[in-house]
Amino acid sequence: MAPKDTADEAEVRQSPYEMIGGEVAVRRLVDRFYDIMDADPAAAGIRAMHAEDLAPIRERLFEFLSGWLGGPPLYFQRPGHKCIMSAHRPYSIGDAERDQWMMCIRRAMADTGISEDLRTLLDPAFLRMCEAFRSRQPQPASRSS
Ligand code: HEM
Repeated sequence: MAPKDTADEAEVRQSPYEMIGGEVAVRRLVDRFYDIMDADPAAAGIRAMHAEDLAPIRERLFEFLSGWLGGPPLYFQRPGHKCIMSAHRPYSIGDAERDQWMMCIRRAMADTGISEDLRTLLDPAFLRMCEAFRSRQPQPASRSS
């Protein structure tokens, strides 16, 4: 008989998807994310880039995060799915948009009870992705005194 896993060993093998709490918890995170984007004037810039009806993008981001977090790769299994980089190419994305997106996901992670450890792991990964979607470079600091 195989030796029984210790709790620690079982934890090490968990994906972020499982650590968050699976499908229900990922949907909760995505819903909170878009609720914040929809309601907080501080996110008005990126809200305006999205379609009036947020239902389809809620589903797309849920599908994407499901796979990205180590769960079922639903986004890539859907026929006709887009390349995630090309999906962002039509938009003007710079510091302001990155910061607004990160504000929404940070608050959504905290509000939906994602542990601090996991948030510390996911935060820089989300940030890297926002940077990858950037189409506007930061403005050099003004030299005027
Ligand atoms: C840098 C900040 C970001 C901005 C301003 C932004 C903006 C957008 C916009 C305007 C759309 C189209 C929405 C619509 O059609 O209503 C979109 C689509 C999408 N975004 Fe982002 N996004 C950002 C970062 C991210 C990140 C970090 C992720 C993943 C973790 C992500 C995942 C997606 C997905 C999955 C779609 C759907 C693509 C499709 O149509 O298949 N976005 N985004």
